[in-house]
This record gives sequence, structure tokens and C-alpha cells, in this order.
Amino acid sequence: MQSVRQTSRSRWLWSIASAGGLLWLFSVPSALAQQPASDDAARQAFNNSCRTCHSVKEGDNRLGPNLSKIVGRKAGSLPDYNYSPAMKDADLVWDQDKLTRFIVKPDEVVSGNKMQPYGGISPEEAGKVVAYLQSVSGSQ
Ligand code: HEC
Repeated sequence: MQSVRQTSRSRWLWSIASAGGLLWLFSVPSALAQQPASDDAARQAFNNSCRTCHSVKEGDNRLGPNLSKIVGRKAGSLPDYNYSPAMKDADLVWDQDKLTRFIVKPDEVVSGNKMQPYGGISPEEAGKVVAYLQSVSGSQ
């Protein structure tokens, strides 16, 4: 007798414990889903299309000039990068619109510049890249 009652009570405790475990399992994925994915997508777009030639770190010039604070920067204005004459004389300030157009078709925005189109990038990807550049450019 005694042992039967004992067993049924421990079964009952066990089912409470496993129900708690299930609740925990279900709550974890929804917590993960709350994290925004868009920042990652934007960074990824930059890494895919630009990072071979560009860094966003100040002073870190590679094949292309660094893109630190590029939104609001004058085109061809870094003192320590050897721009093409076309970029140096472009006389424009990069804003989101000009950057997007330049990324899709560099030559249409700064004719004769030396950034070669590299297989093409869709306006949608370009938008993500510019969002990323904006996000690392500070509050502009
Ligand atoms: C194959 C190498 C290469 C890739 C890939 C590349 N660039 Fe460039 N980029 C350059 C070079 C070289 C220049 C300098 C052009 C000049 O002086 O005429 C440049 C210049 C620029 C400038 C002008 C900077 C300034 O100081 O005025 C911007 C903005 C820019 N690139 C953005 C991008 C973005 C955004 C991407 C990715 C979508 C990208 N580039 C991909 C090589 C590259």
C-alpha cells in the first residue's frame, strides 16, 4: 500500500517538472525571435560586396579608401588615399541617395572613377549596404 502511494506521488511531481521543462523549451525560441535580424543583413551585404576593398575603420585604406563616416563626407577627400582625378574632382558630398546610385552604377555618378563594377549589385542590396554605412557613420 505504502509503496503504491509513494509511486503515484512521485509520478505527479515528475509530470509537473516535465511540464515546466516543456514551457521552458517553448519560451526559448520566441526570445531568440525577438532579436532584430536587419542589422545583420545589412552588415552581411557590406561584407559580401564591399569588404574586399573597403574597411569602415578610420585610416584603414585598402584597395579602396576607408568608408568611415562616409555619409556626409566629401567625395575624394581623404588626404592619405590616392584617388583617381575623377573622384578627386567629383565635387559632391555623399548622401544616402548618391551612395546607392554610385554602388549600383559607379560610372554614372562619378564618370571615369577607378572603382570598377564588380559583377553587379541590386538596388535592394545597395540599400542595405547604405543602411549599414549609415549605421557606422554616427548620427547623421
Ligand atoms: C574591387 C574593389 C572595390 C569594391 C568591391 C568596392 N569598391 Fe568602392 N572603391 C574602390 C576604389 C579603387 C575606389 C576609389 C575610386 C577612385 O579614386 O576613383 C572606391 C571608392 C569608393 C567610394 C568613394 C569614397 C570617397 O572617399 O569618396 C565609395 C563611397 C565606395 N567606394 C563605396 C563602395 C561600396 C559601398 C562598395 C560595396 C557595395 C564598394 N565600394 C565596393 C574599390 C572597390
